[in-house]
Amino acid sequence: RISGDHETPVPGSLEDLGSEARRCTRCPLHCNATQTVFGEGPADARVMFVGEQPGDQEDLAGRPFVGPAGKVFDNALAEVGIDRRNVYVTNAVKHFKYVPRGKRRIHQKPNAGEIEACKWWLRQEIDLVKPQLVVALGATALASLTGRQGRLTDVRGVLMPLDGTRSLLATVHPSYLLRLPDLERQHLEIKRFHADLRLVAEAQ
Ligand code: URA
Repeated sequence: RISGDHETPVPGSLEDLGSEARRCTRCPLHCNATQTVFGEGPADARVMFVGEQPGDQEDLAGRPFVGPAGKVFDNALAEVGIDRRNVYVTNAVKHFKYVPRGKRRIHQKPNAGEIEACKWWLRQEIDLVKPQLVVALGATALASLTGRQGRLTDVRGVLMPLDGTRSLLATVHPSYLLRLPDLERQHLEIKRFHADLRLVAEAQ
């Protein structure tokens, strides 16, 4: 197999794929990010979670979902009885995109070109891990996985087919829950997120 526009052989293991990804220059995001944040988890995981892109803390640590959104994610997994060590966790885009503001780095959504450029890595991860179920955390992951630009709410929480052999479940991104200003609404939405993840726990 040939790696898309790069004309290099496709790495045969997750380890090799991760090493390749750490040298990726397919889009300009590698210029300002600290490092590539590749996926992590067992090479034979039955479930793969796909987020949007690393945030500030993930960029520094080199690991997905270790910042505030990661805490929400970890709490939700614990709530529904999924052990994070048994699942593969990655992102649609593997470099942090931000604008500096004083000492802070403010997260920017990846654009369609960046999502498209990074899709190749996600596809290779799926091909190697061969998960039974892929969980899209938010609209960016869903767009990368299906090309679907529509509203997440139309498909959220229902198992759908992916590539003929897998299932796909779309739910909200954990950061969405952190941004809700109304505590009552937040409580409700966290409960809905947990209900979606219970479907994952059952499918595992
Ligand atoms: N948000 C994401 O989508 N992914 C991460 O790894 C962290 C925050």
